[in-house]
Amino acid sequence: MAHTLSTFAYLAASVLFILALRGLSHPETSRKGNTFGMVGMGIAVLATVLQPGMSFSGIALIIAGLLIGGGIGTYVAQKIEMTSLPQLVAAFHSLVGMAAVAVAAAAFYAPESFGILDAQGHIKAGSLVEMSLGLAIGAITFSGSVIAFLKLDGRMSGAPITFKGQHLLNAALGLLLLVLVVSFVASGNPLLFWLIALLSFGLGFLLIIPIGGADMPVVVSMLNSYSGWAAAGIGFTVGNLLLIVTGALVGASGAILSYIMCKGMNRSIINVLLGGFGSESGSASAGGGGGDRPPVKAGSPEDAAYMMKNAQKIIIVPGYGMAVAQAQQVLREMGDLLKKEGAEVSYAIHPVAGRMPGHMNVLLAEANVPYEEVHELEEINPEFADADVAFVIGANDVTNPAAKTDKSSPIYGMPILDVERAKTVFFIKRGMSSGYAGVDNELFFRPNTMMLFGDAKKVTQEIVQALQR
Ligand code: TAP
Repeated sequence: MAHTLSTFAYLAASVLFILALRGLSHPETSRKGNTFGMVGMGIAVLATVLQPGMSFSGIALIIAGLLIGGGIGTYVAQKIEMTSLPQLVAAFHSLVGMAAVAVAAAAFYAPESFGILDAQGHIKAGSLVEMSLGLAIGAITFSGSVIAFLKLDGRMSGAPITFKGQHLLNAALGLLLLVLVVSFVASGNPLLFWLIALLSFGLGFLLIIPIGGADMPVVVSMLNSYSGWAAAGIGFTVGNLLLIVTGALVGASGAILSYIMCKGMNRSIINVLLGGFGSESGSASAGGGGGDRPPVKAGSPEDAAYMMKNAQKIIIVPGYGMAVAQAQQVLREMGDLLKKEGAEVSYAIHPVAGRMPGHMNVLLAEANVPYEEVHELEEINPEFADADVAFVIGANDVTNPAAKTDKSSPIYGMPILDVERAKTVFFIKRGMSSGYAGVDNELFFRPNTMMLFGDAKKVTQEIVQALQR
């Protein structure tokens, strides 16, 4: 009876996790999705704690773990800046990887507690396979995520670290890992167990160091996927159906997200998997043609307010700088004022604007920008030709036409928002520095461009004041 109940609880939790993922796919339903996920996790934890045969000390240990882990998680989540989320996610993934390694070690050294012994008292071959896979993927996820964290947090240079024969070495080490796993499954030798762990830690490190900082969010999403597969591996080892389902969900959704991001940046996912991604393009290049440039036309917030007051159609393009400045709230106020003046206002979201998937959507939703005003790239691009103003706030790479014209540019092939087609383009940024990819943007020098130099929030506040006068 208790067993049937816990199976039913696990099934309910699995369904809730699927509903959570579905909900999270759209800003409008994301809060509901989050709630589904939290309720599902609550049910899963309860069902695990109340398993038949769970001792009092076992329950006490789980509660202590929940309090310590939950306390640290709550503290960190409250303290973290929105712009630092990618490195936080990377740091958290490293913990999932380490957990997989720890569970594999626990199962190897206390197989009786996991019920994975055969009639002769040996660990079952199938369990050794699951254990070694969980161990290898977990260790790769751990060291890879640590490097991703260090690069994203600026504690390690974001530049790709490459050397001759890198891919060959990685392939050889991958092959060696396979040989070790097969020998471990055949012999159950503890030395081989630790050799697999060591080699996998090394491989995770080697796979991530050649990747440039600009490409790191894709890698974080890929590591998210790996951590899911590692959890699924642990699920097999401990015979926990829910962990298998949840791990597979995380693994598959992480892989799909990586694919979407790669598509948004026109990168090949195979290169990411091989760990050579970004090496040829990650270094900052001046790009964009160079040579003598006409002077840029700089304007004031009052100029911008005057021009927008007389505009019919305005498309706002937010980017990373809006997130840094936390300008979303005042931007929405500006949009509201312009709508009152009779303008049609919409927001254009590039799939990789900002530093993580959905970055701009989250910020605009936080500022209560109506969802129907927010449009994706394919939908909004044809609209720029009819727009009077493209209001680019803290975005740069995602508008750079070099992506279409300059084959040598690191962003060549990336789809971009066609802001250049608008009658007037405003760029709100602090100076002339390049964006994440490190390339110049020739749009700054075009005759229909006006630069509004300054912090995104401050400039937009001044435009709002000018609109109210
Ligand atoms: P970027 O091209 O990085 O440009 C952001 C601009 O914001 C910078 O040029 C900077 O110029 C300006 N800025 C910074 N702080 C500011 C502030 N306080 N006020 C005003 N402006 C400020 O951003 P984007 O257009 O959003 O493009 C995103 C980039 O990240 C792409 O290259 C993309 O490939 C990469 N990337 C994104 C993702 C995801 S999933 N989003 C994943 C991987 C890579 P100043 O310094 O002159 O102010």
